[in-house]
Amino acid sequence: MSRITTIEQYHEQYKKSVDHPEAFWAEIADEFTWKKKWDKVLDWNFSAPEVSWFINGKFNITENCLDRHLEKDGDKLAYTWEANDPKEPNIQYTYKELHAEVCRFANVLKKHGAVKADRICIYMPMIPQAVIAMLACARIGAVHSVVFAGFSAASLAGRIQDSDCKLVITSDGAYRGVKDIPIKEVVDEALETCASVTKVIVYQRTGTVVKMNAGRDYAWDEEMKNASSVCPAEEMDSEDLLFILYTSGSTGKPKGVVHTCGGYMVFTKYSFENVFQYNPGELFWCTADVGWVTGHSYIVYGPLLAGASSLLFEGIPTWPDPGRFWAMVDKHQVNILYTAPTAIRALQASGLEYVTPYKLNSLRVLGSVGEPINEEAWAWYDTHIGKARCPIVDTWWQTETGGILISPLAAITKTKPGFATLPLPGIQPLLVDEKGTEILGNGVEGNLCIRFPWPSIIRTTYGDHERCRQAYFATYKNLYFTGDGCRRDADGYYRITGRVDDVINVSGHRIGTAEVENAINMHADVVESAVVGYPHDIKGQGIYAYVICTNSEKNPDSLRKEIIAEVMKLIGPIAKPDKIQVVTGLPKTRSGKIMRRILRKVAEGDLSNMGDISTLLDPAVVEEIKKGKI
Ligand code: WTA
Repeated sequence: MSRITTIEQYHEQYKKSVDHPEAFWAEIADEFTWKKKWDKVLDWNFSAPEVSWFINGKFNITENCLDRHLEKDGDKLAYTWEANDPKEPNIQYTYKELHAEVCRFANVLKKHGAVKADRICIYMPMIPQAVIAMLACARIGAVHSVVFAGFSAASLAGRIQDSDCKLVITSDGAYRGVKDIPIKEVVDEALETCASVTKVIVYQRTGTVVKMNAGRDYAWDEEMKNASSVCPAEEMDSEDLLFILYTSGSTGKPKGVVHTCGGYMVFTKYSFENVFQYNPGELFWCTADVGWVTGHSYIVYGPLLAGASSLLFEGIPTWPDPGRFWAMVDKHQVNILYTAPTAIRALQASGLEYVTPYKLNSLRVLGSVGEPINEEAWAWYDTHIGKARCPIVDTWWQTETGGILISPLAAITKTKPGFATLPLPGIQPLLVDEKGTEILGNGVEGNLCIRFPWPSIIRTTYGDHERCRQAYFATYKNLYFTGDGCRRDADGYYRITGRVDDVINVSGHRIGTAEVENAINMHADVVESAVVGYPHDIKGQGIYAYVICTNSEKNPDSLRKEIIAEVMKLIGPIAKPDKIQVVTGLPKTRSGKIMRRILRKVAEGDLSNMGDISTLLDPAVVEEIKKGKI
């Protein structure tokens, strides 16, 4: 059994995973259903990079998520779905029912010409059909690319074009709190520039009137009516693509992170079971959206592979009031709650009167993901939600890692506020200095790297392998570089301190400064811009933009509004700058490089010591920027 139950076992397993990684992972992979076992466990080389796990193994991940449970646990609950509106009835799916729906929708996809290796874009709200759509793709061997339904038409189009998606699965609209968002309209706009898409399947969720293009758009319900619930699973190779998920980096457009079937399957189940210590019969609730990797790994694949029961939620934490999460925990008797620091801070700020009416006594484990959790939020979560009896698992990982790499194992690893604590078995982290020299010992700080592959490591960035190499494997020779800074304390515990590259983490969502700058620069009056992050009470980091304009006469308020509109149009509301300061120049070195360090200090409100500014082309701009701080 791959389930660790004591700290001694953890240390034992960890040692085994480092001394004999292939034997270690082979034993875990053995617990899955394979049509054909692998010939070799691992081949790797970080300089190419080239990583293959469970080589020549044949199987289908959905047989492991669904079919495998049918005989014994077919009537077990896979999901309970709660709608945005608390008055709307819940919908439940047993494993048997989910299996049937997935097979039926897989047949719909086939009918519309989807075949193995086709890319299919999913742009949907948090409804069970989003999960069904993902699994139906996997069933037939198509590669899903889920795009968070908050992204704009331009962002969606860019992602569809980058991976040449053939089909899009969407809904008429999406409910989020009081909002009723017409998302099919966004798809229609995006598709004006996406020639690769031949079919669109539209689930009717809100009843909003939508335009259905004859021959291109089909209604989900109509298509499902006559679809058979028998659909043999396509045989997949371990290294066949399972999905693409776009994420922002420090340069250029978002990149399509590629995960493959075998390693991802093995690692998501392993990490789910061990980190959360899920027990049969418990209810797990991950509050993420399926549009992010957390939703992929810990709403869909990890829990289903483990045969777990999950809660799926369409709405937002603050509607109809900020007690929604806690009402749901009591109503459904949630045992494990996995959420993000930004949600915790927002609910903390709303006041205890929204918490005290609820018992919260079903909770056993609490989780945190997406950004560093500040000690105050950690303590509030611990005291008021966990009532000081629920271990908090602060899980560090990334879209590129596929699953949780550094985290306590619930109730096994001693926790410390703000610390992701220790690596999971199979994960070999190290800290390096700027030059890439390993920083040994404890009580040290550096850039976080990983020296050995784990099964769900990123395989490539879709359509551009060189970009994958450059972004993750070129900074430090023979190491995977995470882009995060990290401290290792006297006990050898890891504490992630945040990004060390030009990526801002806003409410747990990664946003590249270059992407926001590109959007701002599209405004006709903007000559140049520079974007940095700054500490924000709720969002963790906010977006601070410095802009140089041609038209100095223009009213700064209307300029700000127009810039925000431009960013919303090109990226989406999550990338909206919180502060926009109009400046006449940016602090640049003689070689033209923007000194972001200075811009960050001003944005943080630390105006005292600007450090050495003598290398600037025009040191006077610093004074102006300081004076104009918002
Ligand atoms: C940050 C989300 C501190 C980190 C799963 C990482 C964290 C980026 C934590 C990945 C954590 C995630 N503590 N920081 N527990 N979890 N991060 O790809 O900077 O959306 O590099 O994956 O979020 O974000 P992504």
